Amino acid sequence: MHDMPRRDFLAAAGAAGIAATGLATQSTPRRKAGAKSVANLAVKLDRVRAAFIGVGARGSGHVSQMCLIDGVDIVAICDNHLPTLERSINNVVNRHKRPAPAAYGRGDDDYKRMLERKDIDIVIIATPWEIHAPMAIAAMEAGKHAFVEVPVATTIDHMWKLVDTSERTQKICMMMENVCYGREELLVLNMARHGVFGDLLHGEASYIHDLRGQMFEVEHGTGSWRTYAYAQHNGNLYPTHGLGPVAQYMDVNRGDAFDYMVSISSPSMMRTNYAKDKFPPDHKWNKTKFICGDINTSIIKTKLGRTIMLQWDEQLPRPYTRHNFLQGTKGAWAGFPDRMSHETHASGPDEWKEGKDLEPWFEKYEHPLFKRMGEESKKNGGHGGMDFMMLWRIVYCLRNGIPVDQDVYDAVAWSAPFPLSETSVANRGRTMDFPDFTRGEWKTRKPLDNMSNA
Ligand SMILES: NC(=O)c1ccc[n+]([C@@H]2O[C@H](COP(=O)([O-])OP(=O)(O)OC[C@H]3O[C@@H](n4cnc5c(N)ncnc54)[C@H](O)[C@@H]3O)[C@@H](O)[C@H]2O)c1
Repeated sequence: MHDMPRRDFLAAAGAAGIAATGLATQSTPRRKAGAKSVANLAVKLDRVRAAFIGVGARGSGHVSQMCLIDGVDIVAICDNHLPTLERSINNVVNRHKRPAPAAYGRGDDDYKRMLERKDIDIVIIATPWEIHAPMAIAAMEAGKHAFVEVPVATTIDHMWKLVDTSERTQKICMMMENVCYGREELLVLNMARHGVFGDLLHGEASYIHDLRGQMFEVEHGTGSWRTYAYAQHNGNLYPTHGLGPVAQYMDVNRGDAFDYMVSISSPSMMRTNYAKDKFPPDHKWNKTKFICGDINTSIIKTKLGRTIMLQWDEQLPRPYTRHNFLQGTKGAWAGFPDRMSHETHASGPDEWKEGKDLEPWFEKYEHPLFKRMGEESKKNGGHGGMDFMMLWRIVYCLRNGIPVDQDVYDAVAWSAPFPLSETSVANRGRTMDFPDFTRGEWKTRKPLDNMSNA
């Protein structure tokens, strides 16, 4: 003690305390030797030879829609549940009249055998959350570009490994945040780019969706793995649908960045009540201890000082919403239902304009991507067309040598509230720093090109 200056002693004591609670501030590891940034990584492919891992509720839709896009070959499909695998292969052959893709279904690791193939450019991964990162890393190591469902990973360690692998292999790792391709989200992005809202100050984002019914998928399907997540984690387990678009409005990773966040959860009641109500007393859901607060609320502060309120709730009885709220110095947009207030409105900014009154804004600021592909996307479906629009845009970028709209840095920043909220909730809403996955590049990167080079 005598040999240690008081300032150093206090710093050491503080660090020990923080480490003991798992709250060490996020340090930025050095970029690995031989690795370089993948900001603006562009890949030019003549045709897109696609393979799929996981073709359940979500992945089967990706296969169907990729069958509708010019320049795409469906090369191989992997799913460790054989009936699901067969259904997907049959769909490609019988419904879409495409050549039969190779099938990989010999157990949990058969995707690795598929990745040995030399005729695959991209791998679309739609499996349970915890295995997204290992599968995406294996795909990039095998020389393929990885396109991964949301959230891209559930731990900070996996997130850094995704960044490091993408930077070392120079392979794309995109999280497929389809909501960024919704009509309203594209409109708001376009309006924000044109300065309609003035300087941006605040956003609100959420995933509020009553998914209790998934608990009936007991042996296979989404509920068979997702239900366990509510017993393992207490925080925001699905941050990206609401947050991705708001991050794009605010140029996060391209001029601004997430700095820190705090998070708190309500009591956990609904899953336990639902299990009691719907399943026999000896059912496994009645022996499972659910710990995830029914509604979780976080606040994020960005490096430029903006604020984002982020919510998650997959079990309470209320209508679906992602909030999709953006406030600037000149006006605000709110989603679910769509509303806008603006200082130029004749009735003044303290009244929402809705429905028909929003038409002039849509006419003036409809996003170029929606103008080009909106009708076709709606026809081909997937959450009102946003899924098809996303896949079409991915293929467009790849075939035209344009960087994809969401890179690995976006994937991890938008997913990071999953683990960060969990630690914050466990520590009385303590402040959690976001890692700087861009290693400082957010300060100099140009804003997204507004996805308008379509
Ligand atoms: N973006 C969206 O709108 C959206 C919508 C739904 C689901 N999702 C995401 O899609 C992913 C999948 O969700 P889902 O609802 O389709 O779940 P699901 O259970 O229906 O599908 C997952 C599939 O992965 C397969 N699988 C599991 N382990 C495997 C392995 N080792 N090798 C090969 N296949 C394996 C399963 O057999 C199953 O068919 C999740 O990450 C989820 O969050 C996204």
